[in-house]
Amino acid sequence: MKSQDFKNAMAIVPTSVAVVLVGPQDRIRACTISSLVSVDVEVPQLAFVLKSESRTLLDITREDFFSISILAETQKPLALEFSNSGSEHSLLDVFGFDFHGSSQIPYLKKTPVVFFCTFKETVKLTHSRIVIAMPFSALFNNKVRPLVYQNRLFYSLSENSV
Ligand SMILES: Cc1cc2nc3c(=O)[nH]c(=O)nc-3n(C[C@H](O)[C@H](O)[C@H](O)COP(=O)(O)O)c2cc1C
Repeated sequence: MKSQDFKNAMAIVPTSVAVVLVGPQDRIRACTISSLVSVDVEVPQLAFVLKSESRTLLDITREDFFSISILAETQKPLALEFSNSGSEHSLLDVFGFDFHGSSQIPYLKKTPVVFFCTFKETVKLTHSRIVIAMPFSALFNNKVRPLVYQNRLFYSLSENSV
């Protein structure tokens, strides 16, 4: 299968949009991901994919602690901003961020859910790495709906059931 055909086919699959935030406090790194999956529910574990050259990957392995904030339907500007390497961190102030308790992990406020994670391991692929994370706590906000990514466009969920 050609790579472009595969990309176009996978673009049909709707996904969540999340931002990985990793410290230290004076040099926060933020990166948009749409590849988050749960891989174990008994011993809670999450996985996502980052390109091998990702600077976020470097910082995660260096810091050991990071957060994954699932974006809200109103937070599309954050998704776009943090998919660029030279991103504008003032947007973090506009949308609101904080540091988690004693761990001091940076995270985005007003999101449907935030996972606070420790880094476990990576699985090396040809052009990317699967990051395995162990969430040790989560913050929920049931009043906020998640942003959805499908066919390279962003959507919010409607309440119409099918
Ligand atoms: C909606 C959306 C989803 C994305 N999902 C991923 C992803 O799952 N993995 C990835 O490596 N890059 C993904 N990207 C691209 C990264 O956000 C982008 O390459 C980023 O600049 C990487 O930053 P870094 O090199 O500082 O880690 C996505 C971009 C967008 C807009």
